[in-house]
Amino acid sequence: MTPPKNEVLRDKGGFLSPTIRRIEHEGRPAILKDFRTRNVVTRRILAPALVRREFAILRHLEGIAGIPRAIAIVGGAALVTEFINGRHIGKYKPGELSDEVFRQLAATVAAMHARGVAHLDLRQKKNILVADRPYLIDFANAVRVRAGSPLRAVFARLRQVDESGLLKFKARHWPHLLTDADRDRLRRHRSLRSLWIFSPHTDRARDKVW
Ligand SMILES: Nc1ncnc2c1ncn2[C@@H]1O[C@H](COP(=O)(O)OP(=O)(O)O)[C@@H](O)[C@H]1O
Ligand SMILES: [Mg+2]
Repeated sequence: MTPPKNEVLRDKGGFLSPTIRRIEHEGRPAILKDFRTRNVVTRRILAPALVRREFAILRHLEGIAGIPRAIAIVGGAALVTEFINGRHIGKYKPGELSDEVFRQLAATVAAMHARGVAHLDLRQKKNILVADRPYLIDFANAVRVRAGSPLRAVFARLRQVDESGLLKFKARHWPHLLTDADRDRLRRHRSLRSLWIFSPHTDRARDKVW
């Protein structure tokens, strides 16, 4: 089924939440992440910086399989990127995704890290789309640390944040691929979470398969 050419995919309001539209750009489906529908402070001050940042990070990652292409900035406050025709990873049942999908996903994360970028929001299932292969989307919170930067020491920690996101999905979708080191990490993570008093986390049975 061909989706309509200009469809609003999300418009939940909130001053920092852009309207998301599926549009057509030079004959191809694209995504428009648009802050122009928001208040004047967002539109004029916050959005230009946010949009430029996300665009620059995507451009820096260009060529890595599994990262959508940045196409343009429109009107200073909207970002156009390649449209990925897939469903987010949470829509798939355990066992539905092949081991190859995990290998591709891990390779994309590693290639992104090799270019000095940490995504930092990979625990969100909505940020991993699976189409012909897995894709990472939403680089709004991503951080780029340049070679030689004093923040380089912190980058190892930021990479771990992404790796823990990846591990969460590995445990759910590919438990047979978990290594002993992965299981240790998951156990440590779970005991830390049980100490977390601010938002008590209830363990879900489906996450305990390992
Ligand atoms: N490149 C893309 N291809 C397909 N859908 C996308 C793409 N980028 C965003 N979306 C859809 O729009 C939603 C919001 O986009 P996202 O970049 O996560 O915005 P936000 O920074 O506000 O969270 C995503 O969860 C996804 O459903
Ligand atoms: Mg998002």
